[in-house]
Amino acid sequence: MRRLEDKVAIITGGAGGIGAATARRLVAEGAKVVIADINEDRAREVASEFGDRAIAIACQAEDTDSIKAMIDGAAEHFGRIDILHNNAALTSELQHQDTTATDIPFEIWDLTLDINLRSYLAGCKYAIPHMIKNGGGAIVNTASGSGMAGDLSRIAYGTSKGGIIAMTKYVATQHGRDGIRCNAISPGLIVTPAAEKIVPELINIISHHVLTKRLGRPEDIAALVAFLASEEAGYITGQNFCCDGGGLAHQPHTYDLFNFMQQALNK
Ligand SMILES: NC(=O)c1ccc[n+]([C@@H]2O[C@H](COP(=O)([O-])OP(=O)(O)OC[C@H]3O[C@@H](n4cnc5c(N)ncnc54)[C@H](O)[C@@H]3O)[C@@H](O)[C@H]2O)c1
Repeated sequence: MRRLEDKVAIITGGAGGIGAATARRLVAEGAKVVIADINEDRAREVASEFGDRAIAIACQAEDTDSIKAMIDGAAEHFGRIDILHNNAALTSELQHQDTTATDIPFEIWDLTLDINLRSYLAGCKYAIPHMIKNGGGAIVNTASGSGMAGDLSRIAYGTSKGGIIAMTKYVATQHGRDGIRCNAISPGLIVTPAAEKIVPELINIISHHVLTKRLGRPEDIAALVAFLASEEAGYITGQNFCCDGGGLAHQPHTYDLFNFMQQALNK
């Protein structure tokens, strides 16, 4: 399918697992892409897969000037902006200090919200005027299931992701009549190289709590981004789509209850 012929898309965190898979999918659908990431070397490597259909631009999500420069640079290079995939998140070692309400240092709270949430606002703030010049555009924000349900750690991460879901609805509402659609995707565990490294055991644990027979792949998110960015989703805006194997679609006790009933029947 080539639903994005000659559309220009910016992908923040474009050098990472989900971002690179999304770049591949958008290019396969006809788009030109900007790989925006703090990891400049990896961003260049990803962009080099697509020849003149892609460029890499270094950008630090916590620095709003850097986001503005990246977006203006993208518009100057390709002449327009049609799609923004806000997708970067704090992934350095510092994320391990994102713990609980009583323990988290305020600097970690601020940094997490600056990178994960304020940068998405900055992306919208600076990309929307470029999109309006061409009649509109589509924004797809990567949120997370962590923004919809609590966890024992990562309070700042979860709060930033909940904020993204709310911000998505505000941007959709405030700029709908400008031709801007804005949607969010909330992935469950997506098995990227980075996710595999963090806690290998996590993969085993999560697989007991999804309804599907397999865990998520970066390509699952990429396919949803491509759809939401395309005119096929022209009547969809302000929504948050879970792509999580049904992880949040069932009662948390479902499998414990199932096992209990199996044991009772076997007695
Ligand atoms: N993989 C999962 O299981 C999962 C689940 C839910 C949500 N998500 C979300 O998906 C998005 C992509 O995550 P991923 O799994 O591909 O992770 P990843 O670590 O593979 O990619 C993240 C990218 O963001 C970049 N980045 C980090 N800090 C940055 C900064 N300050 N400025 C600019 N770029 C920066 C990194 O260099 C990296 O390329 C994130 O928003 C993440 O929260 C991922």
